[in-house]
Amino acid sequence: MENRMNETTLSAPALDHLMEHARKAALHSYSPYSGFKVGAALLLANGEIVTGTNVENSSYGLTICAERSAVVRAVSQFGPEIRIQAVAVTNLNQAASPPCGACRQVLGEFILPQAPVVFPATDGVRTMTFAALLPMAFEIDLKKERPS
Ligand code: THU
Repeated sequence: MENRMNETTLSAPALDHLMEHARKAALHSYSPYSGFKVGAALLLANGEIVTGTNVENSSYGLTICAERSAVVRAVSQFGPEIRIQAVAVTNLNQAASPPCGACRQVLGEFILPQAPVVFPATDGVRTMTFAALLPMAFEIDLKKERPS
């Protein structure tokens, strides 16, 4: 069947399960400045789930978001060949929190275009494909051959 923009590739229970991991990660948030506790969970193509939370800093701009924490952790744990199959993001503040622009760009380095991304929106929990969430992502192929 042809892939449509918002067609997702994971069952609702699997996404709920991923969301639960994101919620648990948010409990670890270090967010003394904003009080906004975010959690993210990535389902990798190898079947592993990797989570991240936001880690703030007194030099505000050095704060790292939950989604980017999870990506950095996934690469650190499983190496540079990881592929992200699905993403769940949530927060403990009962607020909307779609992934920010910077996190979308960073997710884009490793994510499959049709991967579902589930997050709290202003109108409730939404699921969108990554391709719909970040159309026309910046891409440039300057990757070097790895030494064998
Ligand atoms: N935050 C995330 O963790 N993910 C996002 O996509 C947007 C914002 C965090 C950063 C900061 O600690 C807090 O939310 C308020 O902006």
